[in-house]
Amino acid sequence: MAFQDFDQISERRRLERKQKLRQKIIIGVVITILLLSGAVAAFLIFLNGSQPDDTTTDDGADNVETNPDTGKTNKDNPSGASNDKGNDDQNLLQTQKAVQTICQTTDYKETCESRLEQSLSSKLSGLPSPDDLMQAAISAASDELDNAIKQTSTFMKVESAPEKQKPTFDVCKQVLEGAQNDFNHSRNSAGSTDLGNWLSGVMSYQQTCIDAVTEDATKTSIEKALKISKELTSNSLAIASSLQKVVSPPTATHRRLLTGRSALPAWMTLDTRRLLKTDATSLSPNVTVAKDGKGDFETITKALEAMPDKYEGRYVIHIKKGVYEENVVITKDMANITMYGDGSQKTIVTGDKNFADGVPTFLTATFAAIGEGFMAQSIGFRNTAGPEKQQAVALRVQSDRSVFLNCRMEGYQQTLYVQSHRQFYRGCYIMGTVDFIFGDAAAVFQTCEIVIRKPMKDQQNTVTAQGRVDKHETTGIVLQKCKISADELLEKKSKIESYLGRPGKEYSRTIVMESEIDDVIEPAGWLAGEGDFGIETVYYAEYNNIGDGSRVKDRVKWGGYQKEFKKEDAMKYTAGQFIQGESWLKSTGVPVRLGSYS
Ligand SMILES: *[C@@H]1O[C@H](CO)[C@@H](O)[C@H](O)[C@H]1NC(C)=O
Ligand SMILES: *[C@@H]1O[C@H](CO)[C@@H](O)[C@H](O)[C@H]1NC(C)=O
Ligand SMILES: *[C@@H]1O[C@H](CO)[C@@H](O)[C@H](O)[C@H]1NC(C)=O
Repeated sequence: MAFQDFDQISERRRLERKQKLRQKIIIGVVITILLLSGAVAAFLIFLNGSQPDDTTTDDGADNVETNPDTGKTNKDNPSGASNDKGNDDQNLLQTQKAVQTICQTTDYKETCESRLEQSLSSKLSGLPSPDDLMQAAISAASDELDNAIKQTSTFMKVESAPEKQKPTFDVCKQVLEGAQNDFNHSRNSAGSTDLGNWLSGVMSYQQTCIDAVTEDATKTSIEKALKISKELTSNSLAIASSLQKVVSPPTATHRRLLTGRSALPAWMTLDTRRLLKTDATSLSPNVTVAKDGKGDFETITKALEAMPDKYEGRYVIHIKKGVYEENVVITKDMANITMYGDGSQKTIVTGDKNFADGVPTFLTATFAAIGEGFMAQSIGFRNTAGPEKQQAVALRVQSDRSVFLNCRMEGYQQTLYVQSHRQFYRGCYIMGTVDFIFGDAAAVFQTCEIVIRKPMKDQQNTVTAQGRVDKHETTGIVLQKCKISADELLEKKSKIESYLGRPGKEYSRTIVMESEIDDVIEPAGWLAGEGDFGIETVYYAEYNNIGDGSRVKDRVKWGGYQKEFKKEDAMKYTAGQFIQGESWLKSTGVPVRLGSYS
């Protein structure tokens, strides 16, 4: 099994589906609003070119409270037959109604209403369609981010910053640009299931900037500058998700079985077998990197620098066995790169940047993948700074629709930074101590081996620290059919405690399902933040796990711990649904289970 290009047929299908979905959403929003208010619904139906139907309007009125006055107004003013002035007033009134209705779903209603009315009334040439409303919400948020960036640039000049702050300002600059870029994607995907992905990206980038800055006064100024922008992003997410719920209730489960078996087989042997079959040589590389000089380049960075600006399909780089001491960045302009090594313990990229030595966590990564569609196979990523050096990332991933197959991530604190967007890990070996899988991506780990190492004396281990900032974000970490165990150096009966996760941010979301959990994990399972931070707002769930550490009887009793997590809930976190794998993962040729194993 080797990576292949996204084939064009499935791409065309995807576009068709997207178009259909968009139509459905428009219909869907009419229905929602109809349910919320008969009056607004009537005008939306009018907008969409259908006849305002008395029966439907009445249904709406029966089911939900409605404003009898406006309901009447609608009947009195059919298809804009009266004078222009009257129409303008009517438009304005109805625009306001529509805005109010759509803003009901958000957490920051006032900001929502004022900005949407502002943005819509400035181009009041007709009544807004649901799509207009969504676009207006995105534009309002994106304009506000542009403002915030202008503001921050007055007090965050990298050139004149104190030496210590320079790198943190640099992180901010990078991620806020990433946020702008994600707003661009959002505009283009309004009405598609991808929208939540891009808006969540904006959310995570804004937060990453705030978190990066360590100096208190500057941090406060940045938080202030980004406040409204964050609220408007949250609003856009809320609106998007309320529209989506109407059109796509959890669909039929994708049960494309990879193997014919339905019971849990010995989890690792499957992948090992597949690994043996993996014929990496069937990929024909565009260039080869070899440390011994027998390739096109001797370093990965040189190979990336020499890449053409434009190319069709995938750009394939073979990295021959060797230990590469480099800090590699796949920039946002390097899309659809496939890198494959000679084995995750033979081809190794290594570094030792770390927080203790003054590098912001974000920049400690030995390897960073940003450009979309990045795929890696049979490569090891390392950060060798050691547990006493605090945060030291081996691999940071922002690449949307990225895949890691049979890779190895080795570090201690914060080994793997799943920063943003949709990510898929299969058959990987991930080791670390504190918060060693963290970030705000939507990341699914399948048949991975997750190994807890020996931390410093006074530390507690946490496998995950997912960082969802806002409850409308579509992000989370899913461990499916993985094995969680301890390194041999961490004695089983040592006093060191280990947990499945703790809240990186307030709405942290992590699901462990169909996995084998060793007794290294404490009976409580999960660790609270300082002062019980997050325990009511997180979303932590376990489903169908086995092993001595999987008993849930003595698990934490938090509001955020999902005691009643059923199969239909678990299905929402499978690769098919949670990261929309059907539309992009299947065509990569990577082995994947889109549904559940049990
Ligand atoms: C990367 O590949 C995807 C899928 O084939 C394609 O839609 C996209 O346009 C490509 N990106 C670039 C920048 O070439
Ligand atoms: C977003 O799109 C606008 C308009 O097309 C463009 O000018 C801008 O450079 C884009 N921003 C980013 C960060 O990609
Ligand atoms: C990369 O290799 C593929 C397959 O050999 C080829 O079709 C493609 O044109 C190459 N791309 C570049 C940029 O050289």
